[in-house]
Amino acid sequence: MTEVAVGLDVGTTGVKALAVSPAGAVVARAERSYRLSTPRPGWAEQDPDDWARATAAALAEVASGRDPAGIGLSGQMHGLVCLDGGGRPIRPAILWNDQRTAAECAEIERRVGLERLVELTGNRALTGFTAPKLLWLRRHEPDAYARIAHVLLPKDYVRLRLTGELATDVADASGTLLFDVAHRRWSDELPAALDLPPAWLPPAHESTAVAGRTIAGDTVSRSGIAVAAGAGDQAAAALGVGVDRPGPVSVVLGTSGVVLAALPAYAHDPQARVHAFCHAVPGRWQALGVMLSAAGSLAWLRDTAAPGVPYEALLAEAARWEPGAEGLLFAPYLAGERTPHADPDARAAFTGLSLRHDRGALVRAVLEGVAFGLRDSLALLRELGVEPTVGRVSGGGARSELWLRVVASVLRLPLETTAAPEGSAYGAALLGGVAGGVFASAEEAVAACVAPAGRVDPDPGWADRYDELYGAYRRLYPALEEVRG
Ligand code: XUL
Repeated sequence: MTEVAVGLDVGTTGVKALAVSPAGAVVARAERSYRLSTPRPGWAEQDPDDWARATAAALAEVASGRDPAGIGLSGQMHGLVCLDGGGRPIRPAILWNDQRTAAECAEIERRVGLERLVELTGNRALTGFTAPKLLWLRRHEPDAYARIAHVLLPKDYVRLRLTGELATDVADASGTLLFDVAHRRWSDELPAALDLPPAWLPPAHESTAVAGRTIAGDTVSRSGIAVAAGAGDQAAAALGVGVDRPGPVSVVLGTSGVVLAALPAYAHDPQARVHAFCHAVPGRWQALGVMLSAAGSLAWLRDTAAPGVPYEALLAEAARWEPGAEGLLFAPYLAGERTPHADPDARAAFTGLSLRHDRGALVRAVLEGVAFGLRDSLALLRELGVEPTVGRVSGGGARSELWLRVVASVLRLPLETTAAPEGSAYGAALLGGVAGGVFASAEEAVAACVAPAGRVDPDPGWADRYDELYGAYRRLYPALEEVRG
């Protein structure tokens, strides 16, 4: 049987499983989707057992006939999974893109003090993060809150079902707002300040460490496979495209959009406009800007204006327009925004529409609006001293050469693709490989498996035009805030 490392990414729309050879080749992939429930506007929930069922099916497919040396987990960050004393979910998980906690975020920043909160966690209280969700539950569902014995992040519920272990990793724990990111351990001060029992929190390990071994049962067929602590999806995606150390930045065009830099030492933005998290590599940190609707904006436009039309056709229509699409701009705030505006109530807009604009122009404006949002994040990373010479891309949007050229030109940064486009699941497989003894370290895994496969350079003419348009884009958010109903 061939030896492989398995990566599992427990995402928002489904789980992806990959089997990766010791030389880094993807030898099998499987995907299973599950539903997202939005019981009220702005809410986003999922059934943790859907993740476990989907994982079992995807894992069985990629492991069949192979010998997994180790399994690595990655997943959507920040989600709240509450378990009772028997390890059963008390209610559906509240996800990263749920916006119900604005009042609790304000309460946390008031109780702890914004400056102290940023000092302790590297981050401010954002609606998607985990701690505000616990405060929401305490206020709105006291019976459920009273039954909590354990709190887990999404991928760690899957670990529990695979191994019976309660555990997490330092990169994912960084997004809870209860973690001392600088010292890579749970904070003493924050749970105390928020009256949250520290005993609810699982041990937090470095991402490459073994945190559980499989127990044969409903979710996995073989016992004894090492399961890596793993990482939140952005840290795993960065590792998967070779951003294990300062150098290239990771640029993700997924549902959300991300620019992430690996840092050699802890650093944070004093205003916390970008997130400061532990990286999936021991002794390294990451700074990242997160847009909530990147490829999600394009998916929305297609579903709304062109249902069933293939993306390739829409992108071909967009390619016919010059940069700037004759004055059409898109503000990509369909689901509120995190970086740079930290505003759950921000909303999207097209401005500058004329009779000449067609569907292709709308698509072009979406590609460009998302690219401008990524430029906002890169500018903030530069303030932290990050000086990238190249970006490494992943996510569904990275399959479009046009979108990559737009982003490269807006950022004035060459972009490289790698052989495995599944950033997070691939990074998870590398971590699984370290836990299973295939690689000695995350760095060794990256060196053995990740190399650039293609490159898209900025177009100098487009870049000049986008420099002019970026000023107009920057004025959009305040103008939209002004006219908000
Ligand atoms: C990172 C973030 C997203 C989610 C969903 O802070 O919120 O990347 O993890 O993918």
